[in-house]
Amino acid sequence: MSEPVLSIENLSVSFSSRRGVARVVDGVDWEVHPGQTLAVVGESGSGKSMTVLAATGLSPRGAKVGGTVRLRGEDLGAMSEVERRRARGRHVGFVYQDPMTSLNPVMPVGRQVTEASEEHLGLRGDDARSRAVELLDMVGIPSPEQRVDNYPHQFSGGMRQRVVIAMALANDPELLIADEATTALDVTTQAQILELVESLQERLGTAVVWITHDLGVVAGIADQVAVMYGGRILEHGTVDHIFGSPGHPYTQALLAARPQPGVRADRLATIPGAPPVPHQLPPGCAFYPRCPVRGDERCRTEEPPLTEIAPGHRVRTFYRAPHSGIERPAS
Ligand SMILES: Nc1ncnc2c1ncn2[C@@H]1O[C@H](COP(=O)(O)OP(=O)(O)OP(=O)(O)O)[C@@H](O)[C@H]1O
Ligand SMILES: [Mg+2]
Repeated sequence: MSEPVLSIENLSVSFSSRRGVARVVDGVDWEVHPGQTLAVVGESGSGKSMTVLAATGLSPRGAKVGGTVRLRGEDLGAMSEVERRRARGRHVGFVYQDPMTSLNPVMPVGRQVTEASEEHLGLRGDDARSRAVELLDMVGIPSPEQRVDNYPHQFSGGMRQRVVIAMALANDPELLIADEATTALDVTTQAQILELVESLQERLGTAVVWITHDLGVVAGIADQVAVMYGGRILEHGTVDHIFGSPGHPYTQALLAARPQPGVRADRLATIPGAPPVPHQLPPGCAFYPRCPVRGDERCRTEEPPLTEIAPGHRVRTFYRAPHSGIERPAS
């Protein structure tokens, strides 16, 4: 098999405060290969964004990061800040969760879209401008020749998000990290963006890490899925493992809570209770307080290891629920 574009091993992120130490990412490992998509799913606060920020050397001030991250085989931790920034600029396109943080309000969008390419690919003047028009067209901005000179405030929220995606794709990255990139968009635009990413993968072999709440999207685009909870991976496998034979009660609960076509919203299952607070994680299984099938004392006091139950399918639970799986939705 090819070398992974990004691999993370035993990644941890913690913050210290007067309330104690919050381990918001704990012992996470996965890798993503050229042309592959890894989806990272989990409820709010489960550590999805922090994992990819730490993996690319962008964690916030005060974060203590541990573990090993390799980008194209090279250890990011062994690089200087300048080398890390250069590697990121050359090889990684990042769509952050909040698109406005990526846009400069006083610079025309066209300039912003190609700023990184100008630096890394040596694009100048008319070449940069035509590349910007091409990229805006690619992400579905109408009349890109005119729009290229507009400022962000002249765009709708959905169009701004497309601009941010164009920025991330500007220098044909080997790795695209998309953090809730299409969550704020309508379904039609979302479908167009997903198609765009797929065609990019086919054309360039781009590896994609796609962070989302939406399991429906996951089924359509992902090869592998990592399910996170309380900073840990609770289950990791192929899309067929996760949808066909989910092994963790949390994954099963997420699947049951997934919006289904034709089912009234008030009939949907929800997961009772709330995710754990990072500096007050339960001593045993992080999901124990909400687990519908929790077992004995062991689940409460001992953290289950992440165990391989089939090749490429890992589950962190003492309890192996029988589950017939659900039909994988058509993508
Ligand atoms: N700067 C910070 N200092 C302390 N704790 C932080 C900081 N930033 C984030 N956290 C905590 O880290 C945990 C994981 O946050 P993260 O943003 O990775 O969650 P997420 O899974 O991306 O959630 P969402 O789906 O809401 O985006 C949360 O409990 C959050 O409160
Ligand atoms: Mg997030």
